[in-house]
Amino acid sequence: MRKTLFAAAAALVLAASGAQAQTWPARPITMIVPFAAGGPTDIVARIIGEHMSRTLGQQIVVENVAGAGGTTGITRAKQASPDGYTIAMGHMGTHGAAPALYPNLRYDPAKDFEPIGLAAGTPILIVTKKDFPASNLKEFIDYVKANGMKLNEAHAGVGSVSHTTCTLLQSIIGAKFTRVAYRGTGPALNDLVGGQVDFGCDQIVNLVPQIQSKNIKAIAIATPERSPSLPDVPTTKEAGLPEYEVSAWNAVFAPKGTPKEITQKLVDALDKALSDDGTRKRLLELGGVIPEGAARGPQALQKLVESEVARWTPVLKAAGVTAQ
Ligand code: MLT
Repeated sequence: MRKTLFAAAAALVLAASGAQAQTWPARPITMIVPFAAGGPTDIVARIIGEHMSRTLGQQIVVENVAGAGGTTGITRAKQASPDGYTIAMGHMGTHGAAPALYPNLRYDPAKDFEPIGLAAGTPILIVTKKDFPASNLKEFIDYVKANGMKLNEAHAGVGSVSHTTCTLLQSIIGAKFTRVAYRGTGPALNDLVGGQVDFGCDQIVNLVPQIQSKNIKAIAIATPERSPSLPDVPTTKEAGLPEYEVSAWNAVFAPKGTPKEITQKLVDALDKALSDDGTRKRLLELGGVIPEGAARGPQALQKLVESEVARWTPVLKAAGVTAQ
């Protein structure tokens, strides 16, 4: 008797969630951005979210949940109900570097999420305040080495993209500098423009307007080719530091257990956004790299997350940095 009742109840729950998935979305969807508003992850989330909202017929509302290099917001997304009404914009830091830096991390980037897809590749630039006494990478490295801890590098918290990529730079050039944490590189950039901090490593989509208006200086871009949005900025290879090549990425994730019908609708909506001329133009103008073909979709993202965790763990362990 008890078994039959239990089976009936389970069938009811399944039917209900099946029905829910079919009518999804019936109300706005929250997209958690694990950094402060105005920064690169927020910028990508809002550009992509705007078009996905149109496809899904419900608003995607960005909620900025900053802290601990992005792991606070991503932990919130992991713990959210897997009903399709909470998704998150993660990145190379939260879903690649974090496991090496947070021994007590409360999520597994490769197991605790339904990957939806890559949203944008974001090349990394070394940037300085506008009156920083260096006009090329060699002068920058010499000055950093000579002035070390007197210099303030701005980043978005341990394990963030800016922190991770400047940790790599620090290891390669063998210099120590003072590291200043912000809740995102949005606010960090304001202080760089204001001259309160000296330099940083950041994602291109956050920087193009300030570089074009010469409010900050771009020393080099850490990609094999120059960016079409910043044709005058040399690559690190051109500038004599070929070993410093690194790019970041931002991607959409849903909590583990979100029904397949719902994740498929999210995958389709993201794909449509990345194929939309207006959305593409906005990302490309900011130097974003749009994933094409096989680079899109959940399988490609799952592989990327696994390879990034495997890549960054030895690099960061060797650098001897941890959050706790
Ligand atoms: C942000 O949106 O502030 C960044 O993604 C921060 C970072 O990871 O460097």
